[in-house]
Formats: sequence, C-alpha cells, structure tokens
Amino acid sequence: MEKARIAVLVSGGGTNLQALIDAERSGMIQSGKIQLVVSNNPGAYALERAAKAGISGVVVTKKECGSQAGFEERLLELLRENQIDLIVLAGFMSILTETFTSAYPKRILNIHPSLIPSFCGKGFYGLKVHEEALKYGVKVTGATVHFVNEIPDGGEIILQKAVDVLPEDTAETLQRRVMEQAEWKILPQAVELVSKHITEQ
Ligand code: GRF
Repeated sequence: MEKARIAVLVSGGGTNLQALIDAERSGMIQSGKIQLVVSNNPGAYALERAAKAGISGVVVTKKECGSQAGFEERLLELLRENQIDLIVLAGFMSILTETFTSAYPKRILNIHPSLIPSFCGKGFYGLKVHEEALKYGVKVTGATVHFVNEIPDGGEIILQKAVDVLPEDTAETLQRRVMEQAEWKILPQAVELVSKHITEQ
C-alpha cells in the first residue's frame, strides 16, 4: 500500500487535527495521508481547518441517524466508501460501541489529555480532566495516545508525554500546556508510527 488512508473524527476546535495537517506538510507524517474529516458537530471549527487544507469534511450526527446504531453504521459506511485504513479520534466527543471499535481492531487511535491510567474513563474529557488533576494535586500530568477498544480509554497505550503542573495553573492554562507540549507532538508521532506499521504489512 502506498500510504495509509486516514480519517480524523472531530467535534470541536480541531487543534489536534491541525497538528496532523501541519505534520503531513512538514513531512513528519510520511506513511499516511488524511483523506477525510468527520464531525458530529456541524459548527466544529475543525471543519474550517479541513476545508482550508483541502480535505473533505462530512458532518454525521446521531440526531439525523436516529440512533447510536444508525450513527455508527453511517460512520462505518463512510469509512468503507473512502477505503480508510486508520481512524484518529481527535477531540471526538461521542461514544463508539464495540460494534464500531471491533470493525477496526488496532486501527483506531485516540488522544487523551492525561497520563492514562490517571484521570481517564467515563466522564473524563476536556477541561474536567485537568480540573481533576489540579484537585488531586499531581505535579506532573501529560497526554496519552492509545488504541481504542470498547472500554473508554482502555486500549493499549502507544505513546505518552509528561508535562509539569505549575503552582499557578488553572484548568485552562494546564489544558493549553498539555495540548501545546504533549498532544500536538505525540499524536502526529503515533499516527506516523501506526501508518508505517500498516503500510509495511
Ligand atoms: C482537548 O481537550 C483535547 O485535550 C482533547 O479534545 C479537546 C479538544 O481538542 N483531545 P481539539 O482542539 O478539538 O483537537
């Protein structure tokens, strides 16, 4: 296979998607190419980022599909139509059941804004992750890229990167640092690693 065909699933600002787009441009990601961005939120700025990069963006909502099963079936249909090899969840805020995850074993990556197994699992997403880290008083946090299976944040860990927690940190300043110093670095690295593995098979 030439390059792994990648789909990125988004819901929000798309800063992790932007990191992937920039990494493709800089040659940091060579073994894969983003073919498709799918958002479950029509207003996601990530869709603007995709459009600016000339990447096709599609909106799929559970509402229009009528159910979780219909939503996942539509996603799987889109991925099949585009012959996708690797799926990256980049700030994607929606549950994916085993029906979906079992269709792509070790071919779905997620970026989580903590050092799993800390501050992860059901209900731990976005700012809440950093609020909990500050509440606990950890001195180091970070980000994790892991394979996605049916257990929330439960799949095999691929890469992690640690980030210092500073005394004056708020959840917002900590989130920003974790994104800048960890997420935006290890997600592209992990995508290149897994894409290379896929294309060498
Ligand atoms: C951030 O909280 C990030 O840690 C997590 O998803 C949220 C938004 O990311 N992965 P993005 O800017 O939409 O990539």
